[in-house]
Amino acid sequence: MTKRFLLMAMAACAALALSAKDILVNTPNTSLLLKAEENQPLHISYYGERISDIGQVYYAYSLWDQAYPAFSGGGSNSHALSVKHWDGNMSTELVYIGDTQQSEANSTLYVISMKDKAYDLMVDVCYRAYNNSDVIETWSVIRNQEKKPVTLTKYASGFLPLRRGNAWVTHQHGTWAAEAYVSEEPLQDGIFEVREANGARNAFSSRANIMVSLDGKPRENEGRVVGAVLCWSGPYRFSIDTPDQKVHHLTAGINEVNAAYTLKKGESLTTPPLALAYSAEGMGGVSRSYHRWARLNNKVHNGTALRKILLNSWEGVYFDVSQDGMEKMMDGISDLGGELFVMDDGWFGSKYRRTRDNCALGDWVTDTVKLPRGIPALEKAAADRGLKWGIWIEPEMTNTKSELYEKHPDWIVCHPNRKPVTGRGGTQLILDMSNPEVQDFVFNVVDGLMKETPNTYYMKWDANFDIANFGSHYLTADNQSHLYVAYHLGLQKALERIRAKYPDLVLQCCASGGGRVNYGLMPYFDEFWVSDNTDAQQRLFIQWGTSMFFPACAMAQHVSASPNHQTGRVIPLKFRFDVAMTGRLGMEMKPGDLTEKEQAYAKMAVQTYKEIRPIIQQGNQYRILSPYDKTGYASEMYITDDKSDAVFFAYKFEHYANMFRPRFHFAGLDPDATYRLTELCRNGNPDHWEGHTFTGRFLMQQGVEIALGGQFASKVIRLTRQ
Ligand code: GLA
Repeated sequence: MTKRFLLMAMAACAALALSAKDILVNTPNTSLLLKAEENQPLHISYYGERISDIGQVYYAYSLWDQAYPAFSGGGSNSHALSVKHWDGNMSTELVYIGDTQQSEANSTLYVISMKDKAYDLMVDVCYRAYNNSDVIETWSVIRNQEKKPVTLTKYASGFLPLRRGNAWVTHQHGTWAAEAYVSEEPLQDGIFEVREANGARNAFSSRANIMVSLDGKPRENEGRVVGAVLCWSGPYRFSIDTPDQKVHHLTAGINEVNAAYTLKKGESLTTPPLALAYSAEGMGGVSRSYHRWARLNNKVHNGTALRKILLNSWEGVYFDVSQDGMEKMMDGISDLGGELFVMDDGWFGSKYRRTRDNCALGDWVTDTVKLPRGIPALEKAAADRGLKWGIWIEPEMTNTKSELYEKHPDWIVCHPNRKPVTGRGGTQLILDMSNPEVQDFVFNVVDGLMKETPNTYYMKWDANFDIANFGSHYLTADNQSHLYVAYHLGLQKALERIRAKYPDLVLQCCASGGGRVNYGLMPYFDEFWVSDNTDAQQRLFIQWGTSMFFPACAMAQHVSASPNHQTGRVIPLKFRFDVAMTGRLGMEMKPGDLTEKEQAYAKMAVQTYKEIRPIIQQGNQYRILSPYDKTGYASEMYITDDKSDAVFFAYKFEHYANMFRPRFHFAGLDPDATYRLTELCRNGNPDHWEGHTFTGRFLMQQGVEIALGGQFASKVIRLTRQ
């Protein structure tokens, strides 16, 4: 190519850049660049580090992809939208017709309006860019203004081209008691997919969140990484298609399989937000952006409030609740300095009493045989001990053995022509949240308890079954395929009513453990139960994975009995506390079963947690040594925004002869500041560094030796800037 030709080509490129409209979507440190031109598809030309001179992008790259591609044939797997129009035409050609920008409290909303060239199908492609965190949400609003109904056979929330290279994808998989395990793999030719279809507990088998590392094998604190999180509680699908030598296409949204969605004339569908984050500081940088976004923008309900230390009754007594037993546990947790007591499952049922897991869901009346003085007496007993009161519910569920099911057999999720398959206890069924009567019922479960015991501070909202019997008595024959979407929109409606009336009620999101850890529900919930597995060793892995996308303030982490009830493993109390302290600390045992020495330790640990709670719950997390790296060690830390105060956690969970002893490096410190190191919750001799000062640079580059004896040794270190 001659130099003259090159200059001409560059000039043409620049002219194009000027004639079309550029929409630069900025967060404090990132930019996404769109190009809109009348009667043309919307294009995306850049996502990465914040830029101000957009000319650079057009001179540098020829990577231009549609921002929200629609299916019209051509063999591509990468489309975000697929529509069967009123006349049966399956192809869609969206072109730009206008756009708006609107400032909001902590963000700017960009709405780019598109229309099919030949049909009155309108699609708004939306981007919300935050000014307090590096997250951009994208979603679409699809409106049918055609003559007759149209059917959406794919309706993703967002689409993003990524430059091909040594790109790796990090995703999560799991099951009950082993949620959020981390997998990473290089992106190869072809299609990579994370697809989920459970219906109600969408975070067990996989999670609606991925990261793509653009600079080779994923690293915690280095390298360019893009994160994508779907804010949805139902089935989802993430796919990354690598169609040619240049690009990976990421498409993410509601899983459209068995979920074709029909819009009548005049109807619209708003897809759930896909939250994108970019960081050049590795996966940790992306995590910190999500944590901040969640805390500051109510993506986790009340995200800036400090969470209280609680005792939950489940692993202590299971279904065997009683006034006396609950009071003993209240005594136990209040002696240790706890702040809240939660009575778990087992407290309700009249005709069918909840003595085990096979009956009474839906019959939310107190079991007066177990609790003759009722719930208000328990709330009072808690208050008398200076504790707040909390209670367990599972409002979306019922059992075949329940008064509710006897009265409303048509309220369950199941096609009228099918006999329902049952879940837990051989009797559990799920209520049909697409039905407004069921939505009212679910609202009334919470409202009824609040009326009976107005000082209730906390509710644990469980969900222990799936959409196993696909079908709805409520939805019309034409709209059966709406169930997955309608269930979750109905659940949101009920939760919105609850939040409007009870904004300060603390709600925990639980689904047999971490089965509902998703940003579709967290705007309504203050926290989630990370896992039914409370084994501290396995929790290191589960919590590590969970923390990649969710902030510590939302992660409920409980110290339980030893041997552990799920794995039988015996782990010292200090290690159990040190692992549980990296989120919202709680306990899940009979405190009275601890020895006197253990009780003294627990009391000191609870007191220490209160002191460091703001740093952990509201600070910035740096994951450092991953338990997945199979060294037998793990470490992570939390630091305040001003970098003046930090807490570091080091764990050793294996032990063998000639095991290597790492120097533990710190992260996120001010390199030029000096920090004093003090061990917290110490139960042995002080290390060399105890009470000494180091520069942030030394601690990050050189690190310190931390004496960790045998298996299940751990240390917690406070760093205070001098
Ligand atoms: C689920 C929850 C547990 C407990 C039980 C009660 O399994 O995850 O924490 O609440 O239900 O039945």
